[in-house]
Formats: sequence, structure tokens, C-alpha cells
Amino acid sequence: MDYINKSEVIEWLKKNLNKERFEHSIGVSETAKELAEMFNLDTEKAYTAGLLHDCAKCLPNDELLTIMKTNLEVEDCELINPKTFHSPVGAYLAKTIFGITDEEILSAIRWHTLGKLNMTDFEKVIFIADKIEPRTRPQEYIDKIKPKLSLKNGLDMALLECFKGTIKSLVDRNLKICTSTIDIYNDLLKKYEKN
Ligand SMILES: [Fe+2]
Ligand SMILES: [Fe+2]
Repeated sequence: MDYINKSEVIEWLKKNLNKERFEHSIGVSETAKELAEMFNLDTEKAYTAGLLHDCAKCLPNDELLTIMKTNLEVEDCELINPKTFHSPVGAYLAKTIFGITDEEILSAIRWHTLGKLNMTDFEKVIFIADKIEPRTRPQEYIDKIKPKLSLKNGLDMALLECFKGTIKSLVDRNLKICTSTIDIYNDLLKKYEKN
């Protein structure tokens, strides 16, 4: 099933994102599709969410904030760091501009930066694809996460690696950490603790 008119969306992204962000969006769409195939999920749906996940990324922060305050109900954690504003707004644009009604696509876009507890495999695929697409992400970072992905390991080992990297980098840059980020990290870690 086609969720979008691909060429129309690609043209829109080309106009509304900078060159690097556009390249990254194509990378995430391709990687999301590969991961969906690997984990037996809907590949077209993953491609769509990957392509659209950063559609609001190049809007100025004040505009993002206005859209959030006027049109959306957001959680406190979504207001802590301006870098995450584009996620709920991206889901909003996906719905209003591109007519996406699939709740899982919208949720994967909304939570692709912060993540949330008990993500579905589909949401995890988009979250991880955002971190490991090879067009713009550093190889060194990809090498830490990608080897953890296998049918045997599932998606959580790679997801845990993503959260480790995120927490370290937030600390290094003196940025606030949402309590939900710590909760997700603890929850993932718990799965690998030896009893
Ligand atoms: Fe993003
Ligand atoms: Fe992204």
C-alpha cells in the first residue's frame, strides 16, 4: 500500500529542508525500509515514516513552538529541549500536509527524537534508522549500533546503544535530560541485567 505520493513528498522536502537534512531524510527512508524488511514489518510504511520524520526540522524554533501551543497537546518532556520540537510538529505536518492518518507512522515521527517507554517495533525501527542511516551519520557511531541488530537480538540492544550515546552526548553538551530518557534507558538495561 502506498501511504504518500513519493515524488510529491520528495519535491516538498527538497524545497523545505536544507541539503544535508534532505539527504538525511532519504537515508532514513532507505534504512527504515531495510530494517522493516529484516524485522518483517511493513516496508512501505517504514519508508514513509523515514522520509517524513524530519519534515519540520528546518522551521524556526518560534514557529515550531507556536504550532505546538496552538494545535497540539504535548507532554512536558517535549518542551525541555528545542531540538525535539520538530518531532511533534513533524507528526502534525505529516497529518495536515501529507494526509497521513496511520497512527503508527504519526507516533513514530512524534517520538523519533525522545523515544518513549514500550515503543512498538515499528517505532523502534524509525528511531534506530534515524541514528544509523549511512548518508549523513558518522561511520563511527553507526559501527556502535548496527552490529547489535539481528533477528536474534531484536531491536532493543541497538536501541539501548542509541540511548547510551544520547545520554553521553547530552551530558557532554551541558544539555538537560528528560526524565523519560532515563526511564527508557533503565527499562532497556533491565532486559540485559543478569539475574
Ligand atoms: Fe529529527
Ligand atoms: Fe532525523
